[in-house]
Amino acid sequence: MHSCGGWDVNMKKTSGKEQKNSANVLSFERPFYDAQIRKFEAEISKLQALHKETCEMAVRTILRALDHKDHYTYGHSMRVAHYALILGEELGFSPQELYNLELASICHDIGKIGVPDAVLLKPSRLDAEEMKMMQEHPGKSYEIIKEFNFLANVADYVRFHHERIDGTGYPQGLAGEEIPLVSRIILVADTFDAMTSSRPYRKGLTHQAAIDELVKFSGTQFDGALVSLFLQGMEKENQKKRDQFYLQIVNELFNKDAA
Ligand SMILES: [Fe+2]
Repeated sequence: MHSCGGWDVNMKKTSGKEQKNSANVLSFERPFYDAQIRKFEAEISKLQALHKETCEMAVRTILRALDHKDHYTYGHSMRVAHYALILGEELGFSPQELYNLELASICHDIGKIGVPDAVLLKPSRLDAEEMKMMQEHPGKSYEIIKEFNFLANVADYVRFHHERIDGTGYPQGLAGEEIPLVSRIILVADTFDAMTSSRPYRKGLTHQAAIDELVKFSGTQFDGALVSLFLQGMEKENQKKRDQFYLQIVNELFNKDAA
């Protein structure tokens, strides 16, 4: 028990001994304990915020490495996060679920750091051998982040972002709901951005043409319910007519066309 002196009903300081014999002791000591608890709680929140900021800084550092390796993939990862969040909001995700979705989306292609430049930056279509090397990137993304406990919860989401709903995707050929929901969301967002982005070997599709492709491959490549919600979310997004989007973990505003 706390042994310092307190204050009596006449607001005179009392000794510890007087308090022990007083019926009012508890009511006068309580504010002291409450204040101490509030102080500790404030300290814990401060440390948690500092820990979160340090972890986000580490994530931004990994992303900077990806940016230096391949600027296109960096921008693509940011846009994928934006599209994935549109879908997450349509699904009614909580703030924590949206946070994890953003985290998984910005890290989904981090494994491309481990793909040889000759393959990753090849200005023409990949042959079968090169395609095999490229398809190792989800496993590499998983390997890079799985030991970092801040990212451990999203490691599997990243690992399975190229699985297809009909079971013909990679790396494991998971099907339907065996594929984590976040991975299915990332696949829709990832494919939409890949189709609408111009590459040295082909011009990007219009948004409408890309949406037609998503609809066409609903139920085989994509989760059909997610494609419908994505179309709904994109319609709302287009009505907002904003040029930029914001990602909280990267803590940056991106131009929607030139991220
Ligand atoms: Fe990918």
